[in-house]
Amino acid sequence: MDFLSLKETEIADKLKDGKIKVCVIGIGRIGLPTALVFAQAGAKVIGADISEEVVENINKGITYIDETGIEEILKDSISSGNFIASTDVPSAINEADAIIICVPTPVDNNKNPNYSDLMAVCRDLVKGLKKGSLVIVESTIAPGIVEEIIAPFIEEKTNLVLGKDLGIVSCPERADPGKIFECLKTIPRIVGGINENSSNIAAALYKAAMGVKVVKVSNPRTANAVKLTENIFRDVNIALINELAILFEKIGINIIETIDAATTKWNFIPHYPGPGVGGPCLPANPYYLIQVANRVGYIPYLVRLAREINDRMPDNIVNLIFEALNGIGKPIKGSKIVVLGISYKSGVKDVQYAPAERIINALKKYDTEIACYDPLFENEIVFGMLTELSVEDAIQNADALVFCTAHAEFKQLNLENLSKCVRQPAVIVDTRNIFDSNEVTNAGFAYRGLGVPIS
Ligand SMILES: NC(=O)c1ccc[n+]([C@@H]2O[C@H](COP(=O)([O-])OP(=O)(O)OC[C@H]3O[C@@H](n4cnc5c(N)ncnc54)[C@H](O)[C@@H]3O)[C@@H](O)[C@H]2O)c1
Repeated sequence: MDFLSLKETEIADKLKDGKIKVCVIGIGRIGLPTALVFAQAGAKVIGADISEEVVENINKGITYIDETGIEEILKDSISSGNFIASTDVPSAINEADAIIICVPTPVDNNKNPNYSDLMAVCRDLVKGLKKGSLVIVESTIAPGIVEEIIAPFIEEKTNLVLGKDLGIVSCPERADPGKIFECLKTIPRIVGGINENSSNIAAALYKAAMGVKVVKVSNPRTANAVKLTENIFRDVNIALINELAILFEKIGINIIETIDAATTKWNFIPHYPGPGVGGPCLPANPYYLIQVANRVGYIPYLVRLAREINDRMPDNIVNLIFEALNGIGKPIKGSKIVVLGISYKSGVKDVQYAPAERIINALKKYDTEIACYDPLFENEIVFGMLTELSVEDAIQNADALVFCTAHAEFKQLNLENLSKCVRQPAVIVDTRNIFDSNEVTNAGFAYRGLGVPIS
């Protein structure tokens, strides 16, 4: 089928009738849910991935991805014949009308964006692409990567005329981990194509498969800029609140009380302090734009500074832990410190760039005993440590309990019971403002909270 020559109105019917073939490259946290939503909407989907283990497990209906209902949807999609996974990426590309790219785009240790997986996909694209297909880049990338790297690469290595024989769009993924299926079906998509037809066909496809509003922007670079603007906006606002939290604590002001009161003004958007910013997106995305800015001789001071402030938060938390131990008259040496919550985000089983890792690594340099517990990682090796089976197991004889993730389970804890397991006096260091300070002290613990002055 020459997918690009379809009328927009034909796409919804063809999708329902199983006439549209989709290849999703990279069936990880974003790619697999995306592939399954297309399969459930009627598309014939091949999930292409270089990992044999991922493909083998997924074809058996097994995935490590922790999204509600994913294994049921996967099994249903496999048995309906609408979904299969494969390691043969060029063949999957060749069979498809629409090719959706969802491979990782991390930053390296020097904070430079690493597009090597994306370039590997480009090499497969030129082997498999056929006339009339549409390439959709969902991976987060800097503005200009489609126009200056992907499109020229394909044009040079194939006979395809861009815009006529081949469509390309950026449609960055905006879903929130932990509720990806809900997000895929509700959050509007941003589509920017190399020409109007690419944008129109992609918009019709997403509207039909996901039932969402599609916002068309001028070109791929603008679509990428939208995604980066959203995440940088968040990173900068969190940095501001983190900075104020540290300052306010020193001058006797409670940051949470301040934020709650400020939120009563119509144009204040609340953000909350924390032990650092983790996950696959926020700690990496600003650097894509910083690199582009450097190339054109502009220094994005605020974007850089926000990253620095948020990156320093784990060190601030380590200081807070030391102060907290001093406050109960205990030396760091020989103390037992328990980190509660290692995921970067509540309710999400993911430790990419998790602040807890930096905190644990910093504590390991001292002569302390460290234990950790996370309800999503029980009895697993994470950050080189075996996670405990329960909060009670973890905190036996502990001197400091450091809450790094606001998991719902932690909010239900009976602190009074916990205070009987620890080596009194013991302190709770609350980096997420999970608990009320009075609740903690009434339960028999000393309390230190991020952005909360010592009373
Ligand atoms: N995870 C999120 O919350 C999130 C949210 C929005 C956007 N994104 C973006 O989505 C993209 C994908 O992220 P993710 O979290 O799904 O990654 P992931 O690591 O969970 O999955 C990526 C998959 O791609 C596969 N892969 C790597 N190179 C490949 C190649 N050359 N060919 C085929 N498969 C290949 C890997 O084996 C893996 O299974 C990234 O650009 C990320 O920034 C992620």
